[in-house]
This record gives sequence, C-alpha cells and structure tokens, in this order.
Amino acid sequence: MKVLGGSASPLLSQRLAKELGAPLGKVETKHFPDGECYVRIHDDLEREDVVLVQSTRTDADIIELLLLQDAVHESRIRSLITAVPYFGYARQDKLFNKGESISSRAVIRALQAHTDALLMVDVHNLLVLTYFDIPVENISGMLQIANHLKEAGAEMVLSPDEGSISRARIVAQNVGASVDYLEKTRIDGSTVKIATKVLDVSRKRVAIVDDIIATGGTIFEAAKQLKAQGAREIIAACTHGLYAAGALQKLEQVCDHIVSTDTIECETSAISIAPELAKAIQNYK
Ligand code: R5P
Repeated sequence: MKVLGGSASPLLSQRLAKELGAPLGKVETKHFPDGECYVRIHDDLEREDVVLVQSTRTDADIIELLLLQDAVHESRIRSLITAVPYFGYARQDKLFNKGESISSRAVIRALQAHTDALLMVDVHNLLVLTYFDIPVENISGMLQIANHLKEAGAEMVLSPDEGSISRARIVAQNVGASVDYLEKTRIDGSTVKIATKVLDVSRKRVAIVDDIIATGGTIFEAAKQLKAQGAREIIAACTHGLYAAGALQKLEQVCDHIVSTDTIECETSAISIAPELAKAIQNYK
C-alpha cells in the first residue's frame, strides 16, 4: 500500500501513512504562471493499493485531486481509495431555488469516476452519500473530538442547533457530560440568530460542537449566550475549521479555546482524524 497526499492535506497524509505503516509517496504540485495546476507522482505505483488524501476546500483543491487521480491511473495499480477528509460543496446538497446546481452531486460525479472507493469525514448532510455510485463511507470525527474534550475537562456539550444534536450526543456520551442544543435560525450566509434558551451552564466548562466553523457566526452567537448565562469557560470544537476571513479573531473574543481536526490543516487543528481514516481503510481491504 502507498499513501499519497495532495497539497491541501500534507500533515494528515503523513499521519495516515504512519497509522497504516505504509510509505508516503512523493507528490509534486505546482502552478503555471496562468494559474493552471501541474502534478507529478515520483513513485512506482505498479500493482499497489493506493490511498490518495486531499481535502477539497477550494476549487483549486478539486482540480488538483482530479489530476492526481489521473496520474495515479497512469500506473497499473491494484486499487485506489480517495480520502476527501473535508468535502467542499457539501452544503449545496439539493436545489434551494429553481435553476441552481446541486453542487455536491456535480463534484461527486467528477471524483467518483476515477476511484474505487471514497472516504469523507463528517459530511455536512448524509444526503450527499446518495449521489455516489461507488462505495463511500462517511467517517465520524466525534470520538477523536470527545477524547480531546474529555482531556480538557468539558462538563457539558452543546449543539448550536437541533439538527446537529446527534453529533453532540456522541461527544457527550464519550466525554461523560450532559448535552443540550440551541435553536439557531440562519438569516443569510453570514448571519445567524440563536433564540434565547435557559440552560444549566452556570459556572460550567461548556463545549460547543459543530461540524463546520465557517464565518464563526454560529459559535459566536452561541458562546455569547452561554457567557451571558454564566458559563465559566467556552470551548469551540469542530471537525472542519474553515475560518473565513476574521472568523478566528471574532471567536477568540468569546471562546477560551478553539479546536478542530486536521481535515483542514490550520492553527487550531490539534485533533487528528488519521486513526479513524486508517481504521476505515483497513476495514475496506
Ligand atoms: C450548519 O448547519 C453547519 O452545521 C454549521 O453550523 C455552519 O456551517 C457554521 O457556519 P458559520 O461558522 O458560518 O456560522
């Protein structure tokens, strides 16, 4: 087996290779002056089971992944598993208005054409799994998040909305903490409203758990409310720390600790998803 990592996931691919006890291949990625991507794999992949890791946060990441899949298939490999730890476009998973694209489905159609199986982590909505014609698995990052929060001494776990309560429940059970949820209404892409709800948070270390932090608006509003109700400490934890411009600074005003997994490699990604990915890959064999 060989592990290859795209430029969006260098650390995670290295950690995954270590977990699997497999060598990490050498991948070269660069951009031509006009912006076009170029990739080259400097390894012999003949008769190998290949694992290719690349989160697709940007459009450039998607193109790079498609080129890497193509480059892998230049060799007579045995199999290819594509791991897309953060799958972008997951939030446009259906038609919200006539005339739109189902963006998730469009990206999946391109990616699945060149791989035997695909792995994702905490995909925003399980509906996107129905767009696949090949084996696909959605891996949960919640156990790894729970381990971190247990260590940090979280006493209560909160979901910012009712829709994400199942994730928060898994975390709470594994931390041994209580769980509750807030009532969020999204006004637009960058504005959310969280209804006032009396919670048993006084003097507690509370963890707010979400799949994605993008603008930070959701966690910011939730944390403000918890602080106003007397919470002692707020930990914001998510799988995918996207942090649109200024989001992290905004969150630092109301949160004591911000943590995410390495599906997006950034300054808060202290939790690794590599053990869970490795388990899924080993089961697939
Ligand atoms: C939405 O349903 C997701 O679970 C997240 O709550 C959302 O993507 C967070 O976005 P933001 O950080 O922009 O509020």
